[in-house]
Amino acid sequence: MPWTEAATDRSALVAKRFGARAGQYDEHALLQRESAATLAAFIASLGGLPPAGLVAEIGCGTGLLAELLAPKAERYLATDIAPEMLERCRLRLHGRAGAGVALMDGQRPAFAQPPAAIVSNLAAQWFVDPVAGLERLAGQTPFFAFAVPLAGSFPEWREAFRALGREPGLLPMPKGDDIMRALTTLAARTGKRTRFRTEAHTLRYANARAFADSFRNIGADQPRSGYRPGPIRPVLERFAKGMEATAFVLYGLIKKESA
Ligand SMILES: C[S@@+](CC[C@H](N)C(=O)[O-])C[C@H]1O[C@@H](n2cnc3c(N)ncnc32)[C@H](O)[C@@H]1O
Repeated sequence: MPWTEAATDRSALVAKRFGARAGQYDEHALLQRESAATLAAFIASLGGLPPAGLVAEIGCGTGLLAELLAPKAERYLATDIAPEMLERCRLRLHGRAGAGVALMDGQRPAFAQPPAAIVSNLAAQWFVDPVAGLERLAGQTPFFAFAVPLAGSFPEWREAFRALGREPGLLPMPKGDDIMRALTTLAARTGKRTRFRTEAHTLRYANARAFADSFRNIGADQPRSGYRPGPIRPVLERFAKGMEATAFVLYGLIKKESA
């Protein structure tokens, strides 16, 4: 299957799941809220957004990052593939001068002019090829800042499944080394500089069900392809009194020195 077709199919599925949960997303998006704040602080610590021009966001969801960054941008365009998410984001940004929303697949970004900056929080892991997708976005702007969860995230959950001789249904996530290599190579070719930081975000859940629900409740429960659910009673028992789950998130910035 050509990648564009695979990407279109994936996007339709992902949009449907996220769209269905847009109304309750904010209440449950604990990791996303934490990483949006971390990404905004990461950008600020490296000099902030470009003072002029358009800042475009990919995969804005209900606008957790947009709320933090739109006030710092001259113009802000929040984009997503799920119309229901965009509507929430539009309401959140309502009345802010220079801010708007648009339906757009971040795997095939279509900007009339290169934005002064592109930003994205925990969205590129949904692309068919996250590394290529991040590289493509970085190539469209002098300033690209992102957060993406990495392979190996949620080791506590993986270990519990491995003890059963199984792999959990978690979505495959990109490797930090692959992303950093691709973007460092692009930076060298295009006169840009990169900065990266990886952070472990550990959240606590009442039990295994609450952890699984944390994906379901925000619409992020599309399992990896080929996953077949089976009985998981030992996993439920292991975490009956609570569980910690750690997401490893890569924060990255690739920008022209002048940007
Ligand atoms: C986990 S949510 C993160 C949302 C928001 N950035 C936040 O931090 O709250 C992922 C979002 O990415 C969107 N998304 C997934 N694949 C996408 C794609 N190919 N293009 C644009 N948005 C996408 C989903 O619809 C969803 O709103």
